[in-house]
Amino acid sequence: MKDLLRLKTSLTEEVEGLLNEQIKMEAKSSATYLSMASWCDRHGFDNSADFLYRQAEEEREHMMKIFKYVNDLGGAALSPEISDISTEFDSFRGIFEEALQQEIAVTQSFNRIAAKCQKLHDFTTFNFLAWFLNEQIEEEYIARRCLELFEVIGEEGAGQYMIDKQIAKVTYKA
Ligand code: FEO
Repeated sequence: MKDLLRLKTSLTEEVEGLLNEQIKMEAKSSATYLSMASWCDRHGFDNSADFLYRQAEEEREHMMKIFKYVNDLGGAALSPEISDISTEFDSFRGIFEEALQQEIAVTQSFNRIAAKCQKLHDFTTFNFLAWFLNEQIEEEYIARRCLELFEVIGEEGAGQYMIDKQIAKVTYKA
């Protein structure tokens, strides 16, 4: 029976599993950004809060893109269970350090899935992943630029206020 069900999808069990893990990773990124946005909102960093709320939305869109792909190909996309989301953060800067770490981990994860797809000759999924690998250039760039503001401006005096102002202006030009 299991083999018969498999005939309904061209996705291998392995790739389907990896994509479901990625769905979970994107959902967790979304929830983490939401929590970071809330912290910034509560601490008076309004521009950073807006930036992070938008990031939370974007991660949800990423999750849904993969979710739809798995189901469109006859696989089973699984609604992820998310837990262990931090609600408190040590510092304003700490949030952006964590954001960059999170984006790097996401890029590495997509690279691992792409490598597996190549190995299994799943070029359909490999092709689908190209959009995400490209998107990660922007995601990492923006997270890195935000973090750099802490070095360039410095946090003393009105520094944090200025950093928050500049975060609203960080954009990526390919
Ligand atoms: Fe969906 Fe920021 O990676």
